Amino acid sequence: MPAPIDRRTILNAAGVAGIASVAGLSACSSGSSSSSTGAAGNATAAGGAVSVAKADVPVGGGKIVGKVVVTQPVAGTFKAFSSTCTHEGCAVSSVADNKIKCACHNSYFDASTGAPVSGPAKTALPAKTATVSGDTISVA
Ligand code: FES
Repeated sequence: MPAPIDRRTILNAAGVAGIASVAGLSACSSGSSSSSTGAAGNATAAGGAVSVAKADVPVGGGKIVGKVVVTQPVAGTFKAFSSTCTHEGCAVSSVADNKIKCACHNSYFDASTGAPVSGPAKTALPAKTATVSGDTISVA
């Protein structure tokens, strides 16, 4: 016949289990996570210099290539900006209706000046120099 387990042994075992579960709970609570995104384009983006075909940049629209977004707010006028959103650093996602959009939190920027138009971003996208040569726009 096995030895009877007294009441104190049972309570001690339950206490240890209780502490273990509390410790397990606190270990599971973690802070927030963060992520970053990058953008890739079909045009050339090597060594910081970017080349985009003029034909790939529609009037009122634009082309995102790596760290740069090239726009054509008016026919024949090309602009370039950093494609890194000034809100929390996402890559901007699209250009339409003369606005550059960051889909992370729906900020919009003016495609002519880079200035914030709506959404949480309050700072303009930094401008870059776009140089047109033949059918190509180069951004340094
Ligand atoms: S990171 Fe672009 S809107 Fe928040």
